[in-house]
Amino acid sequence: MSRPRLLAFPASARKDSFNRMLLKGMVSGADAAGASVTLIEPHDYPLPIYDGDLEAGQGLPAPAAALQSLFAEHDGLLLASPEYNGFFTPLLKNTLDWLSRPLPDGSGRPGTVHVRGKPVGIASASPGALGGIRSLQHTRLYLSNLGFIVVPEQVGVPNAAKVFDAAGRLTDERLAKAVEGVGAAVAGLAARLTSR
Ligand SMILES: Cc1cc2nc3c(=O)[nH]c(=O)nc-3n(C[C@H](O)[C@H](O)[C@H](O)COP(=O)(O)O)c2cc1C
Repeated sequence: MSRPRLLAFPASARKDSFNRMLLKGMVSGADAAGASVTLIEPHDYPLPIYDGDLEAGQGLPAPAAALQSLFAEHDGLLLASPEYNGFFTPLLKNTLDWLSRPLPDGSGRPGTVHVRGKPVGIASASPGALGGIRSLQHTRLYLSNLGFIVVPEQVGVPNAAKVFDAAGRLTDERLAKAVEGVGAAVAGLAARLTSR
């Protein structure tokens, strides 16, 4: 069986983002479960806030087209997003909204062609007491609307300012295993789906 290819996306562009640290734990789990993971950075795909007039005038921005190709080439996604007022970040929404637009040549079915039927694992870290869990149900719904299969495993990590060590690893082994488990679940499902 060939190794499934997964993308990993931190939905915070912040240099010291707790969610990027969390994502790296998911990446470790997916890697150990046999996936090959490409970690991408929001700063490498700068996108304006979605604007229908801009799209009509200039077409899909180059970073959105590049992301579409990347998603098409991968079998699944690992995603860690901060919670902003109970929701996932505007960065995530805007990025995936652009991604859901028609292909540069006008072909394809908006919203689904690059991601439909592909597994995704979600997690959130927050300095607060709830670990971003309020946002995860919205993230799950949004990703489902785009056509992803969201795996049941998910993790919210509270007290994020205190639970990562200097290397960005979770110090609580049980929590670290749960986070790795989300990555492993995506890797496992992607392997099963791509072996057919
Ligand atoms: C606009 C805004 C809204 C926020 N709302 C929440 C929230 O609803 N729940 C929460 O736990 N933290 C909230 N936070 C705090 C974030 O969890 C915190 O800034 C976190 O470090 C962001 O993730 P990052 O470290 O990956 O960038 C909010 C932060 C911002 C900037």
